[in-house]
Amino acid sequence: MLSGKRIILGVTGGIAAYKAAFLLREFQKAGAEVRVTMTPSATRFVGLETFASLSGHEVAVEIFPDKPNSGDWTRHINWGEWADLFVIAPCTANTLAKITTGISDNMLTSTVLAARCPVLLCPTMDGEMYDSPGVSRNLDKVKEFGYHILEPESGYLASGLEGKGRLPEIDKILEKASEIIGSVKGPLEGKKVVVTAGPTREHIDPVRFISNPSSGKMGVAIAEAAQSLGADVTLIHGPLSIAKPDGIHSVSITSTGDLFEVVKEHADADVIIMAAAVSDFTPVEIHKNKVKKTDAVNSIELERTQDILAWLGEHRKEGQMLIGFAMETENLIENATSKLEKKNADYIIANLLNDKESGFEGDTNTVHLLSKDSDQKFQGTKKDIAIEILNSIFR
Ligand code: CTP
Repeated sequence: MLSGKRIILGVTGGIAAYKAAFLLREFQKAGAEVRVTMTPSATRFVGLETFASLSGHEVAVEIFPDKPNSGDWTRHINWGEWADLFVIAPCTANTLAKITTGISDNMLTSTVLAARCPVLLCPTMDGEMYDSPGVSRNLDKVKEFGYHILEPESGYLASGLEGKGRLPEIDKILEKASEIIGSVKGPLEGKKVVVTAGPTREHIDPVRFISNPSSGKMGVAIAEAAQSLGADVTLIHGPLSIAKPDGIHSVSITSTGDLFEVVKEHADADVIIMAAAVSDFTPVEIHKNKVKKTDAVNSIELERTQDILAWLGEHRKEGQMLIGFAMETENLIENATSKLEKKNADYIIANLLNDKESGFEGDTNTVHLLSKDSDQKFQGTKKDIAIEILNSIFR
C-alpha cells in the first residue's frame, strides 16, 4: 500500500524521536519515498544528519531557507503539495497545541497547514500530560479537523512512571499509515489521462532521421504522477532514453504521423498532456532504402507536420482538459502564453532550454505552469515537479 507513496515524516522534540529513524527505514522498506521535517527541539534529541542520510534529502527545520537568498521560501507549500501522507511521530503536546490553533512557527507546523494529504498524529508524552484537560481538548479538536490520531500505548515511560503515552510499535504506525493511504481516493480516480512523452523521429531513409534530444523523463514523470493520483493512464511515447515505467499502459510510436493516429484513438480522454517533443517538419519523401551518398542531393524537402495539440484544441470534448508544453530559448512567458491561446489549451508548462538545470536530458527542471490567469513557477527534479504540478491543478 505504501509502495511509490510520498511521505513526510514530522519529528518533534520528545524522547521517542530516536524511534522515528526506525520508522523512516520501515517506510522506505515498504517502498515509500520519505522527506523529514523536524522541530528545533527534536534536533536536541536526534541529529539532523541521521535523518538526512537515511532519507537522502535535506531535513527541513525552519521555514526560511538555511542559505540566505536561496529563493526556496515556499518549500512548506511545495512539500505540502508533494506528499501523499504526513505522519508526525512522535507528536509532542506542544506541536499538538500548535496544530490545534493553526500556529505555523517552524517548517513542520507550517507544512501541516499547507498539506493537501491526510495527516496522522502519533501523540507521545508522559501519562499525566496525555490525560491533562488541555491535551484532551486538543486531541478532540484535531479529530474534528479530520486529522488521524494513533493513540499512544501504555507502559514504562521515560520519566520512570507507568502510564499511557508511549509511541506505538513501528508496525502499528505502518499499519495505520497503510490504512489511511488505502482509503484515500486520488483526485484523478476514475479519470482517463493520456500523456505523450519523448521525441518523434521523422525518417529520411531507414538509417537517418530528424529528431531532437528529448529523453522523455518529464513526460514519464507526469504519467507516473497521474497514476499515483488514481488516474487510468495511457502513455504514448517516442523512443525513450529511460526505462518504460512499470504498470502503466503504454503505446510506442516513431513519427509525428504515428503519434497523431494514436492520440486520435484516445481523444476521448478526460485529460490529455502533450509532453512529447513533436517534430514540426517531416521529409516529403521517405526513401525505402538507404540513400547512397553518391546519389544524395544537397537538400531535403520538408513539409509541416500536424500540430496535434492544436487539433485536440479544435476537437475538444466537453469538460476535457488539455495541457501542453513549450520549450523556448527566448521570451518564455510571451511565447508560451501565445501557445496557450493558439492551441486552445487550459495550461502550458513552459521552460527555457538554456536555463541552468533545465531542459531536455537532465533530471531537474524549472518550469512555469501558465493558464489564462495564472503563472506558477516550479523548480526541482522532474519527478517532484510532475507531482507538484498535477497536485496544483487537480487537488
Ligand atoms: N505539439 C504538437 N504537435 C506538433 C508540435 C507541437 O502537439 N506538431 C505540441 C507539443 O507536444 C507541446 C506544444 O505543442 O505540447 C508546444 O510545442 P513546441 O514545440 O514548444 O511549440 P510549437 O507549437 O512547435 O511552436 P514553435 O516551434 O513555433 O515554438
